[in-house]
Amino acid sequence: MRAFPAATLLLAVAQASASAALNAEQETFDSHISKIERMRGVAEASIRTSWEQGTASQAVLEWDYKDYTIFGRSPFKTTGQLPVKALQYALSAVTRQSADGRLSQQINDALDGAALDGASSAPAVILGIITQPERKDYWSTALQKQLDYVLNTVPKTATGAISMRSDTAQYWADGVYMGFPFIAYTGVVQDNQTLVQIAFDNCKAYHDVLVVTGPFGPRNGWAAKGIIQVAATIERSQFKNQMQEQLITLKGYIQEIFDGVFPSLRSDGLLPNYVNKPDSTFGDSAGSSCLASVVYRAAKTWPEQFDKKKYLDVANAIRKTILNDLDDLGLMKSIVDPLKWDQKGVVSTEGQSFGLMMMAAWRDYFNLKC
Ligand SMILES: *[C@@H]1O[C@H](CO)[C@@H](O)[C@H](O)[C@H]1NC(C)=O
Repeated sequence: MRAFPAATLLLAVAQASASAALNAEQETFDSHISKIERMRGVAEASIRTSWEQGTASQAVLEWDYKDYTIFGRSPFKTTGQLPVKALQYALSAVTRQSADGRLSQQINDALDGAALDGASSAPAVILGIITQPERKDYWSTALQKQLDYVLNTVPKTATGAISMRSDTAQYWADGVYMGFPFIAYTGVVQDNQTLVQIAFDNCKAYHDVLVVTGPFGPRNGWAAKGIIQVAATIERSQFKNQMQEQLITLKGYIQEIFDGVFPSLRSDGLLPNYVNKPDSTFGDSAGSSCLASVVYRAAKTWPEQFDKKKYLDVANAIRKTILNDLDDLGLMKSIVDPLKWDQKGVVSTEGQSFGLMMMAAWRDYFNLKC
């Protein structure tokens, strides 16, 4: 038998234990697939407001068509595959677009005063433009109307930021997710850096106001997910070199949220719904899943800054808790009520969608096979 030098042996041992860990991860993933599919089913079966439509479309995109996500192999070009399920969501959003341009707005009395929620379906519409040439005009018209609305109709705050509400100028952390990723994405596919800059400027404006009350008050998950979508869009784009400074700033915001929120991880493996109000809080599966998904994505995209034990420990703890707690219908436990953030609810479409995003991000972080 050949004698191996000690260093080679050590390396072989390290590789063997890394691959054993990976196999264990794959096994855990495989054994939970049917639970995860049920979790997705709850999101798909619940009634959808405009923001739920967009959030669910993003979750389905991340789970079913990873190549087309902003973290995937082909975010800006067709691979030849038609992302059918994601486009079905986009179709429903476009058929319910209001005359003023808001996607998914025609539901109930259509009087929802949110300015940006409908725009959460716009990335799926852009995917239609990219992947379905025979329906390109249809998708493009809808996108242009939604873009015009956000840029020209919505009230602006004193600093020039696009308001989250249609009648007054307000900053809500959710707006960072709803309204800004699609502006950056449009900028890249239309080769228009001005739009990417507008997306950045709005992330910054919202950050500068909301961070004062703690890292984005109670809705850190939305803000972090919106910021990482914009940051990754810049990272993958033709503007990366010209927009290094903006990219560094956005990554800084993500880190700020992680560092501000993660020390509050509870012993039950969840983050509280309100980080700064220890008395009136419970563990919130929705926000926790969303932030865990952002950890996995950030760690994979910018390992030097985010592939750190202190962040992954939190994401893994959350993911394990959520998987353990799923019931027979795939319902997540301990969900904040989507409309009353200091109370627990039963079904949360956004929460279930965040859960699915977390599972997709976990899978992609470890390159697990599906
Ligand atoms: C980029 O987008 C902005 C906002 O829609 C528009 O005003 C401008 O004309 C566009 N620039 C180019 C080069 O298309």
